[in-house]
Amino acid sequence: MEKNIESHLKETRVFKPARAFAKNARVGSLEDYRRMYRESIRQPEKFWAREARELRWQKPWKKVLEWKAPFAKWFVGGKLNVAENCLDRHLQGPRRNKAAIIWEGEPGDKRILTYQQLHREVCRFANVLKRNKIRKGDRVIIYLPAIPEAAIAMLACARIGAVHSVVFGGFSADSIRDRIADCGATAVITADGGFRRGAVVPLKHNVDEALQGGTTIRRVIVFRRAGNEIHIEEGRDVWWHRELEYVDAHCPAVPLDSEHPLYILYTSGSTGKPKGILHTTGGYLVGIYSSTKYVFDLREDDIYWCTADIGWVTGHSYVVYGPLAAGATTVMYEGAPNWPEPDRFWRIIEEYAVSILYTAPTAIRAFIRWGDQWLKKHDLSSLRLLGTVGEPINPEAWMWYHEKIGGGRCPIVDTWWQTETGAIMITPLPGAIPTKPGSATLPFFGVDPVIVDQRGREVGPNVGGKLIVRRPWPAMLRNIYGDKGRYQKQYWSEFKGNYLTGDGARRDRDGYFWIVGRIDDVLNVAGHRLGTSEIESALVSHPKVAEAAAVGRPDELKGQGVVVFVTLKSGVNPTPSLKKELRGHVGTHIGAIAKPDEVRFAEALPKTRSGKIMRRLLKEIAAGRTVTGDTTTLEDFSVLAKLGSAEE
Ligand code: PRX
Repeated sequence: MEKNIESHLKETRVFKPARAFAKNARVGSLEDYRRMYRESIRQPEKFWAREARELRWQKPWKKVLEWKAPFAKWFVGGKLNVAENCLDRHLQGPRRNKAAIIWEGEPGDKRILTYQQLHREVCRFANVLKRNKIRKGDRVIIYLPAIPEAAIAMLACARIGAVHSVVFGGFSADSIRDRIADCGATAVITADGGFRRGAVVPLKHNVDEALQGGTTIRRVIVFRRAGNEIHIEEGRDVWWHRELEYVDAHCPAVPLDSEHPLYILYTSGSTGKPKGILHTTGGYLVGIYSSTKYVFDLREDDIYWCTADIGWVTGHSYVVYGPLAAGATTVMYEGAPNWPEPDRFWRIIEEYAVSILYTAPTAIRAFIRWGDQWLKKHDLSSLRLLGTVGEPINPEAWMWYHEKIGGGRCPIVDTWWQTETGAIMITPLPGAIPTKPGSATLPFFGVDPVIVDQRGREVGPNVGGKLIVRRPWPAMLRNIYGDKGRYQKQYWSEFKGNYLTGDGARRDRDGYFWIVGRIDDVLNVAGHRLGTSEIESALVSHPKVAEAAAVGRPDELKGQGVVVFVTLKSGVNPTPSLKKELRGHVGTHIGAIAKPDEVRFAEALPKTRSGKIMRRLLKEIAAGRTVTGDTTTLEDFSVLAKLGSAEE
């Protein structure tokens, strides 16, 4: 039997919620969290029914959960509409005139839509969809920049029961074509172009290319955003603004079965063809509504900003559906964080008095690398809560975020979840759970995660293993679109009836979860199984290092040797003596076993467009092979070329 994953990183700092924060929080003490968590596990149906009753149902459910593993139905028999819950529900009271979306385009243009205005735009566009013969159950590809129309298109689909599949605006024609083919979409909603680092991304052109040679697509609706010249295919393509001339703003929300599909979102996975993760209506809405409320401790006057793109699950759950279901003001920004200069985020926070910021560790490390001078010019005192998502945050980046962005006063919620889970699964509640830098802390309500060894037995404190979830939760995926077999095999077969996350983790003596990375990335060095994130964290704690990626390469003696790719902070010279110093640094932080066999300096690391390091590619480079396999999610191809010739 393989050994368990070893964990060596010691992090002992603990940050208790400030008394002033806890006093006003929705959940204000560890005892309250534990009491609510206990109830959510012992009487999940009671707990979730209470949460669900805060939403609007057109027909009440008969049963909260029907679980025939691995297929779950939540709020069985209930009927509701997600768009109605995100919009109409807020129109009776003072929220009617509250900002729903505050948006800024990359060139600096600005728009604010109140709930009333957003409702109107969604109704009108839903009528455009109907006019173009898009019906309940039809699949619609949304390929738009991060502009309010992306949210409007998603909500308009939800309003009539069409199933959207958002394709990230950075993806190519091939990715669009694959997704259309997989879900049999009949319409595409796109724009002429979008802005990215000052350039125009030719979205419509990519769509034209994707549709060449024939697909299931009958209609393309084009929003005019960038003003670039495009081709209009008569009989297939229509302009968004022209279509609006034919419709009114009256569009009742269709009552949909609680298990009606809401969206399909493709995740690349490290190998194989993209998986269409299917989310449905009632359970998903309850899951994201409840988690948005508790994890971000939302108050009526918060200005909430999640920096994720609409093309990722974070954009679905925590830019659009979660905050709007909770009646919040959600900020959207179209472009890059360093455009025109690396202080764009801090400018936005200052200008709109953002109080909650939710971003990714990869962004935080980029800010550190760009230097503190960019924040000094801006007033960040409106912030009261910070969040991270997407990968393990190394403790040094956590501390920087806490001190420099949060001014030492803002709690940080490090939220662990996945496209498949739909909603946040392991996270601090900011007024209740003391945080430790680098740990996602404790499970959210109703979530029952556990760490097991190869045979499925729970491991003891601080022993690494596989992270699984023992029971269904409302926002969980329902299927891989059109492929029940793959759904069952991928997620539910290794430990029958339990959900396999694919992540490795350990739990400390306080029950805190520490995610050590994807199981596929775990290194096996001389019989020791090491998580990549720990080696990377150790490296990033060195003052000269900006970012690091650790991978294994075949080694006759040890099974695997450790190769690390390191990017340095601005102005630091890559010298041979620094390589030696870094090896020693990992040795002192983790132990001799984790000392890298080779340190390679790189200008940048290959990342997916959502910011995750593509270790698979680095592994091939480390082993001296040329890179093969799928690179369609790679953000910047020039990075690969440069790495291939990385100086030794
Ligand atoms: O490995 C975990 C990592 O990201 C994976 C899920 O990626 P994706 O489906 O793209 O969703 C990202 C946004 C939810 C997980 O399996 N991950 C995500 N959040 C964290 C994390 N790893 C450690 N800590 C986190 N907070």
